[in-house]
Amino acid sequence: MEVLRTISALRERLKGETGIAFVPTMGNLHQGHLELMRIAREHAGCVVASLFVNRLQFGQGEDFDRYPRTFNEDCEKLGKAGVDVLFAPEESELYPVLQEVTLNLPPIAEELCGASRPGHFRGMATVVLKLFNIVRPDYAVFGKKDCQQLHLVRKMISQLDLPISIVAGETVREADGLAMSSRNRYLTAAERLEATRLHYNLEKVKLALVAGERDFRRLESEARQDLANRGWKVDYLEVREAESLEKPGSSDKKLVVLGAAWLGKTRLIDNLEAS
Ligand code: PAJ
Repeated sequence: MEVLRTISALRERLKGETGIAFVPTMGNLHQGHLELMRIAREHAGCVVASLFVNRLQFGQGEDFDRYPRTFNEDCEKLGKAGVDVLFAPEESELYPVLQEVTLNLPPIAEELCGASRPGHFRGMATVVLKLFNIVRPDYAVFGKKDCQQLHLVRKMISQLDLPISIVAGETVREADGLAMSSRNRYLTAAERLEATRLHYNLEKVKLALVAGERDFRRLESEARQDLANRGWKVDYLEVREAESLEKPGSSDKKLVVLGAAWLGKTRLIDNLEAS
């Protein structure tokens, strides 16, 4: 695997490549990321990953400084996963000047995670668009774990007419159901045991929805209450329409239940489709 640190070196390397599948990451890679690399390989002859902890998508007081950085281990994993090229720029390479040009996103970006992380999706979409312009992939692979991110990237591609096909990877979980996340490593041993409770509650809501229950407010508040009773601080736990992420109507068939909650100093997110 080649590791390239500058935009010009990457552009030079990718010149003439006919099919490129791209997987952007912030590193500290786990099996969820590696599954996306495997999916990328199914779509193109050249697989490019990026590793960049994007300051622009972290808010004041969030975990930018302590976000786990494990470059050497990540390189080893990507090499074994058959990634051809890793783009790992310094901050000064992607943001040589103050990034004043940013993306204006649809109102849904201010809901769910956007409500508790103002500006997060603007920062995410801005770096993803920059990376798309640098890599110029044919395919880009994103995980369903970050459901709202995937939704907004799809909207950006469609409304900005980018010639990129998005491929979505299923959420990869630990054996007990906890969605894999770089942030899981912040959990203490006791919190790690408790952490499955978010998935448990999403699953409970999902099963009720699949069984035909349509009293969304009751399902949401019972799940929130269960988490709160156990010491979680819930940012949101909501049923939404799966395609639009808008609030659902009782005749909607494709639903998704999404949650974000704090366990101690760790914010966990997860979602499950229910249709
Ligand atoms: P990061 O959190 O590193 O995630 C990179 C990709 O891996 C995202 O598409 C995410 O949805 C996916 N992913 C994370 N955990 C997963 C799991 N358990 N199963 C399946 N896929 C999983 O998301 C970002 O980085 C950043 O916002 C980024 C898009 C790189 C822009 O900075």
